Amino acid sequence: MSIIDVNGITKVYRQYKRFPGLVGSLRSLVTRQYTEEVAVRDITFSIKEGEAVGYLGPNGAGKSTMIKMMTGILVPTSGQLRVLGSIPHEARQSNSQFIGVVFGQRSQLWWDLPVRDSFDLHKYIYKLSDLTYQKNLNYYSNLLALSSFIEKPVRQLSLGQRMRVEIAMALLHDPKILFLDEPTIGLDVIAKEQIREFLRMINREKKVSIVLTTHDMKDIEEICHRMIVVNKGNMVYDGSVEQLRTTLGDQRQVIIYFREEPKVIEIPGIKLIKDEGLRKTYLFEKSDRTVFDCVNQIASENLIEDVSIESADIDTVIRKLYRKLDEENRTNEL
Ligand SMILES: Nc1ncnc2c1ncn2[C@@H]1O[C@H](COP(=O)(O)OP(=O)(O)OP(=O)(O)O)[C@@H](O)[C@H]1O
Ligand SMILES: [Mg+2]
Repeated sequence: MSIIDVNGITKVYRQYKRFPGLVGSLRSLVTRQYTEEVAVRDITFSIKEGEAVGYLGPNGAGKSTMIKMMTGILVPTSGQLRVLGSIPHEARQSNSQFIGVVFGQRSQLWWDLPVRDSFDLHKYIYKLSDLTYQKNLNYYSNLLALSSFIEKPVRQLSLGQRMRVEIAMALLHDPKILFLDEPTIGLDVIAKEQIREFLRMINREKKVSIVLTTHDMKDIEEICHRMIVVNKGNMVYDGSVEQLRTTLGDQRQVIIYFREEPKVIEIPGIKLIKDEGLRKTYLFEKSDRTVFDCVNQIASENLIEDVSIESADIDTVIRKLYRKLDEENRTNEL
C-alpha cells in the first residue's frame, strides 16, 4: 500500500525583484517584477509502507523543496501530492500526528530550554498520554544515549548530541513516516554511524517508513533500499543502488600487489587510479573482456604477489552518474 503519492509535482519559486533605495522600494511594490525558478519539475513517484528511500542530488537539485512539500510546509505549484491519503499543506495539523520531521540544518528545539523541557512541550502539543510519553522517552533515550545531557539546555549540546535529540523528538509521537533533510550533515564518522544504525533499526524493527535527503552515499547504502536521484529539479534515477551500478556499467576496483615494478600496463578498459609503489589500484570498466581475463594477462607479463577485486565503491558510482549528467547538460546547451 502506498503512503506517499507524488504525481507530476512542480514547484516554481517566484522572486520579486527589488530596486535599491526608498524610491526603489516603492517601485518594487508597484511594478512587482519577478523572476521564476523551477526547483522541482514534473516529478512522479510513490512510496510504500515500510520503505526507506534516499533522496540524492547535487546542491540546488530540489531535494529540500520536495521534503518541504511532502511535509506540508510548502504548497506545490502544480501536480497532485498525497501523504497518508491527505494533501499535506491542507491537512498539516492532522498529518503532523502521523509524520516526524528532522531538518539537519535547522533546529526544531527550544534553544534555551533543557532538552527534557522540549520533550515535555512536544508531549503537550501532540497530546500524548503519560504512558506513551514515558515509554517512548525511555526507549529513545536509551537507544540514542541521551541521558547524560537531557537536563542541559539545547544550546550547550554538541551537533551530534543535538541531532540525536532532534530525531528522538521527531519520533516521540510514534509517526508512521519520518522525513529527514540531511540528518548526518556535519557529523563525525562515529556520530554518522550511530545515526545510520539507529535509523536502520527503527525502519526494520519499528516499521517506520523513512524518506531522507543526503549528500553522503553511505547514508543511502546503509539505510535505504531505494534511492531517487534528482538533478536541476528533474528526477534522473529511481531504483536500487545495485540497479544503478548495472545501468551505469559495472565498475570494479582491482588492487594488485606486484613483486617488482611492473611494465607499463596497456589494456583497454583498465585505468591506473592510484599508484603506491608496488601496490597499484586500477579501475576496470566492463568491456568485451572480463576482469579476470585482464588480471590474467597482467599476471602472465608481471610478477604478482596478490590481487583483490572489489565492486567500485558507491561514491565512484555516483560520481560517474553526476559526470554523465554534467555531460548531458553541456550537450543540451550546445
Ligand atoms: N525560498 C526560496 N525562494 C526562491 N528560491 C528558492 C527558495 N528555496 C530554494 N530555492 C531555489 O530552488 C532550488 C532548489 O533548492 P533546494 O533547497 O530544494 O535544493 P537542495 O537539493 O535541497 O540543495 P542542497 O543540497 O544545497 O540542500 C535552488 O536553485 C534554490 O536556489
Ligand atoms: Mg537542501
